[in-house]
Amino acid sequence: MSQFEHYVIANYKRFPVCLVRGEGSWIWDAEGNRYLDLFPGWGCNLIGHCPPRVVEAVRDQVGRLIHVPNTWYMEPQGELAEALSTRSFGGKCFFCNSGAEANEAAIKLARVYGHARGRTKIVTMEGGFHGRTYAALTATAQPKYHAGFEPMVPGFQYVPYNDLPAVAEVLDDKTAAVLVEPIQGEGGINIPGADYLAGLRQLCDRRGVLLILDEVQTGMGRTGKWFAYQHTGIQPDILTCAKALAGGVAMGVMIAQPVVASVFKPGMHASTFGGNPIACRASLATIETIEEDGLLARGIAIGERFRGHFERLRAELPDLIREIRVLGTMIGVDLAIDATAIVGQCLERRVLINATHGHVVRLLPALNIEDEQIDESCSILADVLRRSVA
Ligand SMILES: Cc1ncc(COP(=O)(O)O)c(C=O)c1O
Repeated sequence: MSQFEHYVIANYKRFPVCLVRGEGSWIWDAEGNRYLDLFPGWGCNLIGHCPPRVVEAVRDQVGRLIHVPNTWYMEPQGELAEALSTRSFGGKCFFCNSGAEANEAAIKLARVYGHARGRTKIVTMEGGFHGRTYAALTATAQPKYHAGFEPMVPGFQYVPYNDLPAVAEVLDDKTAAVLVEPIQGEGGINIPGADYLAGLRQLCDRRGVLLILDEVQTGMGRTGKWFAYQHTGIQPDILTCAKALAGGVAMGVMIAQPVVASVFKPGMHASTFGGNPIACRASLATIETIEEDGLLARGIAIGERFRGHFERLRAELPDLIREIRVLGTMIGVDLAIDATAIVGQCLERRVLINATHGHVVRLLPALNIEDEQIDESCSILADVLRRSVA
């Protein structure tokens, strides 16, 4: 901790705990204390800490080839692009290293595609989150993240989330794309109406606008489907994914419909480490784990088990729990009190959770968390919540 104080920029608020080892939904600190992790890797460790197939694939790849630039063909990247394309909408992939970069790529692609028709405006949703690089940050329609960083990138317009008439009003012949999360994650696990994505698709089609889905948090099986849009009948023009994409190894991807992807010509966009063989092998091993262990279906069952616990607690404490929002292993519990204090109290009881937007407890548990681990952690969380209003 003293090294951090001296040598690491203080742009994060850190818990006073040094984590050293993880396995599944368990994680240990340097003092040997064990914690149940309901928020593993901030949503990146979708199949738990150190998933064996991913560990094995990375170990194997490190001994073969660590990195080669994108001026060469490499087997894992081709295999992964096919695996992602065939599990989504038959698009073409661009690989990078994070969610923000994937969104940057999507915004750039949409503008290049739109330029020929004079379309450059990007419409995004209030309360959304798309990353911290400049265009992704500008797309993030939350003033608190812009403060101090102005001027932002020009050409963005914001509308309320889950509000189709508001979108209809701003789409015009200068609009290149609508960029939206199928479920707002950082925004508080906000699940829009069942017709929202289909409605956006229809509006975009009517106005010749691209639909970009930011599935950085919802993608890769988090909601019980490979991608959250697959719960609806529609397809995006561009999709971005990161976080869980490579089982905890840094990776991002933009997948675009071939006709849209075709406007990117050699040299127009790039990422030195994007699609490196280690991350690609980790991602392929993640896909294999999810499929062979039946984890998409398991994700739905996990979400419903959590929902059951929270519904019972809400019956007991109706004034405390305002709303429970669940789709697969995206879980939000909207409280009538500050949720950040709850995070600290759970940490003392060795359960790791997250709070977002002040009053929402956010859980992104692993797809292979066990029933006993769910029950144990929910009983501790329930106890902490009871005490908070006692
Ligand atoms: C929906 C969404 N998009 C983009 C990002 C940014 O991803 P990264 O931190 O990997 O740049 C996040 C991160 O939380 C996210 O939740």
